[in-house]
Amino acid sequence: MVEITAEQIAVLVDQFYGAIRQHPRLGPLFEDRLAGKWDPHLDQMNRFWRSVLLHSGEYSGQPVVKHNGLPDLEEDDFRLWLQQFERTTATLFEAGVASAILTIARRIARSLWLARFGTPFNTAPDWLT
Ligand code: HEM
Repeated sequence: MVEITAEQIAVLVDQFYGAIRQHPRLGPLFEDRLAGKWDPHLDQMNRFWRSVLLHSGEYSGQPVVKHNGLPDLEEDDFRLWLQQFERTTATLFEAGVASAILTIARRIARSLWLARFGTPFNTAPDWLT
């Protein structure tokens, strides 16, 4: 079990999306959908990560539908997302905790990737396993 608090999750969400908004490739993808709506998105992401990491059960949403609805999303964007997530978690948590959170994020990224891009002929790349 990862030892982490809601306050730490709030900092993670804040810093991760702060960096994402500056990201040359991912920033515009988010901005296209979230311009003027960042605050509710960040609240939603806090609920999501508290549900995942603290089992708070307060997230209800449709992540597959939402990501399948992003017209410009490309396969490699998940690699870039994970790269940034790894950077942010490495600055905030000690190595074992950062690695545990990253493993969980990668598992979720993999299922979103498969839902969007997976076919019998297009299986998940190594960086998602
Ligand atoms: C590959 C790069 C990604 C991009 C460009 C991206 C972009 C977005 C955008 C624009 C939204 C808002 C959609 C909307 O409200 O209409 C969103 C929602 C969300 N994203 Fe991502 N995302 C990415 C990867 C991920 C990953 C890897 C995770 C989880 C580990 C994740 C978790 C979520 C969740 C939980 C929501 C909220 C969905 C809901 O409202 O129910 N995303 N994402």
